[in-house]
Amino acid sequence: MDLLKIAQERYTTKAYDPNKKISQTDLNAILDVLHLAPSSINIQPWHFLVIESDAAKQRVTQAMTGPYAYNAPKVLDSSHTVVFCTRNDVTDEYLNQLVQQDAAIGRFKDAATQQAQAEVRKGYVDQYRAAEGGITRWMENQTFIALGEALFAAAALGIDSTPIGGFDAKTLDAEFNLTAQGFTSSVVLTLGYRSETDFNATLPKSRLAKEQIFTTL
Ligand SMILES: Cc1cc2nc3c(=O)[nH]c(=O)nc-3n(C[C@H](O)[C@H](O)[C@H](O)COP(=O)(O)O)c2cc1C
Repeated sequence: MDLLKIAQERYTTKAYDPNKKISQTDLNAILDVLHLAPSSINIQPWHFLVIESDAAKQRVTQAMTGPYAYNAPKVLDSSHTVVFCTRNDVTDEYLNQLVQQDAAIGRFKDAATQQAQAEVRKGYVDQYRAAEGGITRWMENQTFIALGEALFAAAALGIDSTPIGGFDAKTLDAEFNLTAQGFTSSVVLTLGYRSETDFNATLPKSRLAKEQIFTTL
């Protein structure tokens, strides 16, 4: 697989062909990549709303009005849309769930190792809670790692996509009752196949010079 070719050919799709749907196999592959995404101390602070039905797409676009209205057609014409949600807090109960998961899968050789791991994780959480930006910024950073992986995975499968930050998070949170479930919406990803009318498909990629962004020491 030519990784550079995938990076060069992936682009932000601005218009989708509403008649072209992603196969279930490809969708599952992208969801598997999200499932396997790495995160700091394996905190996995995310939940993904997989938006498939027209009715659910309509609900997402409630958060894409006014200055964000330009993003609504992307959701409506996408094959699937994923709403990336991030936890609002890390409770002791959640930390316990994580360590129990690690134990169940066989990552600890004994109880002492499990206990040590639980303490290290809790220590990091306390540290990030006290850091600038707090625990929510740290957790949201992890969610964006998952976004990056999904963007690349989609491109590798020949699927077009759009990362969307242009939406009203409060409206989306209310629409899907996310706050009550302890989450907030961080970013939206549309997936599908480009429309022939997508102006962005033929525009050249624009990036700053490598000399400006890389320093080799
Ligand atoms: C977190 C994030 C949010 C973005 N939000 C939007 C958006 O709301 N609408 C949109 O059309 N493009 C959005 N983009 C796409 C960027 O504008 C695009 O990635 C950038 O211009 C580089 O172009 P390329 O993806 O075609 O290489 C977003 C990209 C990222 C990574």
